[in-house]
Amino acid sequence: MSASPTLGTMQQSTETAAWVHELIAGRWSARGFDAAATIDDAELTSILEAARWAPTWGRIQPVRLVVGRRGDSTFGALTASLNRGNASWAPAAAAYILVCTTDEPEDAAKHDYGAVDAGLALSQMILQAEALGFNGHPMAGFSKASVVEAFEIPEGVRPMAILAVGRLAEDPSSLADEIRERDAWPRERLPLDQIAFAEHWGTPFS
Ligand SMILES: Cc1cc2nc3c(=O)[nH]c(=O)nc-3n(C[C@H](O)[C@H](O)[C@H](O)COP(=O)(O)O)c2cc1C
Repeated sequence: MSASPTLGTMQQSTETAAWVHELIAGRWSARGFDAAATIDDAELTSILEAARWAPTWGRIQPVRLVVGRRGDSTFGALTASLNRGNASWAPAAAAYILVCTTDEPEDAAKHDYGAVDAGLALSQMILQAEALGFNGHPMAGFSKASVVEAFEIPEGVRPMAILAVGRLAEDPSSLADEIRERDAWPRERLPLDQIAFAEHWGTPFS
């Protein structure tokens, strides 16, 4: 099966081996954002709320978010932390959400499941953004030291990813060639029989 996400005028395709919900089939990590688009309070709160209601190990709720909208000082500090590749497209996002979680390597469960919680929160935010007509693009390419300093993130907490939330540019010709070309790369995944096993590791589930 295939789906063609239709946000803005950029198109991407998702080949699925079975039906998946349109929010999942329609999700992709875009770079060609509309640098003039904004996100209002209700939309941004709705995306944050999706993170708040993500599953959480032991109901510990270790995930913390730092939120900036394009033009404010939080957005500026997060932009300053981005690596060069991300800095070439992400500042056109309407908002960034820095996702932080437990940093307690001595406590393996807290440390590991804190990371799982962060991934789930990210995923729920991405799908909620998609439902609102935005594109959510996660980034690990940023300086952790820079955000720790900028926001005085306390010990025991680690920054994991920045989620860029933007609207796709309506007119792809307004984008830099490299961004437009990168957004057109085919999206591929390993086939299901290489990632889903039964009975023995490597034996495809069927
Ligand atoms: C933990 C994590 C970190 C990522 N970091 C970056 C990043 O720094 N810059 C970037 O452009 N994309 C980043 N991505 C997005 C991936 O490149 C993208 O998900 C992958 O290419 C698959 O494309 P798709 O999301 O369109 O399916 C990251 C994704 C994850 C899950």
